[in-house]
Amino acid sequence: MIKNLKNIFPKESEIPSEFKVGKEFIQKQYLIDGEIRTWGGDMQEVLSPISLKEKEGLKRKVLGAYPLLGEKESLEALKSSVAAYSRGKGKWPTLSVEDRIACVEDFMFKMKERREEVVRLLMWEIGKSLKDSRKEFDRTLEYIADTVNALKDLDRTSSKFSMIQGVMAQIKRAPMGIVLCMGPYNYPLNETFTTLLPALIMGNVVIFKPPKYGVLLHGPLLKAFRDSFPKGVVNTVYGDGERVVGPLMKSGKIDVLAFIGSSKVSDILKLQHPRIHRLRSVLGLDAKNAAIVLEDADLDLAVKECVLGSLSFNGQRCTALKMLFVHKSFRNKFTEKFIEEIEKLKVGMPWTEDVFITPLAEDSRVPYLNSLIKDALKNGSEIINDQGGKSAGNLFYPAVLHPIKENMSVYREEQFGPVIPINYFDTINEPMNYVVNSDYGQQVSLFGYDSGKISDLTDVLVNQVCRVNINSQCQRGPDAFPFTGRKDSAEGTLSVSDALKVFSIRTLVAAKENEANKKLFNDIIRGRRSKFISTDFIL
Ligand code: G3H
Repeated sequence: MIKNLKNIFPKESEIPSEFKVGKEFIQKQYLIDGEIRTWGGDMQEVLSPISLKEKEGLKRKVLGAYPLLGEKESLEALKSSVAAYSRGKGKWPTLSVEDRIACVEDFMFKMKERREEVVRLLMWEIGKSLKDSRKEFDRTLEYIADTVNALKDLDRTSSKFSMIQGVMAQIKRAPMGIVLCMGPYNYPLNETFTTLLPALIMGNVVIFKPPKYGVLLHGPLLKAFRDSFPKGVVNTVYGDGERVVGPLMKSGKIDVLAFIGSSKVSDILKLQHPRIHRLRSVLGLDAKNAAIVLEDADLDLAVKECVLGSLSFNGQRCTALKMLFVHKSFRNKFTEKFIEEIEKLKVGMPWTEDVFITPLAEDSRVPYLNSLIKDALKNGSEIINDQGGKSAGNLFYPAVLHPIKENMSVYREEQFGPVIPINYFDTINEPMNYVVNSDYGQQVSLFGYDSGKISDLTDVLVNQVCRVNINSQCQRGPDAFPFTGRKDSAEGTLSVSDALKVFSIRTLVAAKENEANKKLFNDIIRGRRSKFISTDFIL
C-alpha cells in the first residue's frame, strides 16, 4: 500500500544510469523542404511528468525544448509539400509502388537504429513504462512492415484487368494529395506513424505535427525522414496548434486530415478548411467504453480484464474501460476483488521493474480528475479504495468511485486517467441504455457465457459501437483488425489494410474492348511504358 506518493519519485542520484537524461534535448531542428533547419526563435520548454526529489521538495525534470514555429514556417512547409506533390505530377506521387516501398524500407532500417533514444524519450516525455515504451516502438515498426506487405498484396490483386460489359479496365488506388498528420500524446509515435507511413507509401506527401506531449522523441528520426524520402515529401511543423495548424487548414490545400485527439479540436480544424467537401478526414476521437459484467461471468477473469482495461497506461488510452457495470449478483464481491487487484499494482517510475502506475503525461490531468471526483462525491458517490485519488506531482493513485449517477460528470465525460466509476445493475436495460444513449461509439466489453444472452446483447451492441469484446478488455490490436467508431468516436477506419485505402482513391483506366484498344494496352504493358497501366507483380 502506498502511503506517501512523494516518496515514489527518485533523487537524481537514484535514477539508473542507463535511463538518466540531462538537459540535452534542446531540439532546434525541424525538417522543411528536404533540409534540417535550425530555429532561432522562441522555444517551448519541455517538462517531464517525472519529478525529482530535491531539497526544496519535488521538482519537475526539465528535459529540453522544441521550436515554437510560426505561421511563416508553417506556410513554408505547405509550399514545399505543394511543390513535392505538384498536383500529382511530382516525383513521389508518380513513383512506382516498388520504389516507394524501397524508400519506406530504408526509413525502417534507419528508424531501428534510433530505438533506444526514442524509447528513453517516450518514458521521460509521457511517463510510459519501459516495457510499454519498447512495445510502442516495436509495434510501430511491425505495423510499417505489415503495411509494406499489405501494399504488395493490394498491388498484386490490382495488377489484373477487369473485362465487364465490353469495357476493359485496370482499377488501382492513387494518392489523395497533401496529408496533415497529427497523433495523440498517449501514443505519440505509434498513432502518428500508423497514419503517416500508410499515407506516404500510397504516394501522398505529408506534413506532420507532433502532439503536445511526446515531441522530442521525433527528433532522432528527422534525419531518417530527410534521407529516406525525396525533398518535400515529409515536412514537420512544431509549436502551438492554432499558430501552425490554422494556416495550413485555412489554405484549403490540405487534402486529408489524419487526426487523433478530441472531437472538439477536430471540428475546429475541419471547419477552417474553405472547401470542406475537398477534405477527407481520418479521425480517432473521444471514447467512453463500458464494461458489462453479466451474472454468469467468470469473476476473476472479469476483474483481471477490467483492471487492465481501466488502468493500462494509467487509463490514458482511448480504448480504456471508462465505466464499469456489474450485475448485482456480484455486489461487493466484484469491488472487493477489483480493489485487491489494484493494490497489487506497482506504482513507480517508468523504468521501475514491473511498474504499472506511473506519472500522468498531461499537466492538466490531475486537477481535472480531482474535479471529476469532487463532483461525484458532492452528488453521492464515494471513493471506495484506500488512498484512491491521492496525488503528488503528476502521479495519481487510482480512485474507484461507487455508486455513479447520471447527474455526475464522470458518468459521461471521458476521464482519460485512473478514475474508475463502477455501478451494480439490476436489469440489463441500465447498461444497455447507457451505451445506446452515449455520444460515443467505439467499443464495449461484455463478460458472460450464456450464449443466448451474449447473442441477444451482441446483436444490439454491434449497432452502437464498432467492436464488441467478449470476456476481454477493449483494445485496438491486433493492428490487422479494423479500428474505428461511431458517433463522436471516429471518422474513417484504420487497420493495416484499411489505412492504405483511406489515404488513396480508387482510380481506373478504362477502354472499350476492341482490337485497337487491346493492342494499345498490350504495347503499353509489354513495353513497360506506364507505372499505372501495368501487370507487373511485386514479389
Ligand atoms: O488511445 C487509443 C489507442 O489506439 C489504443 O490502443 O488498445 O492498443 O492501447 P490500444
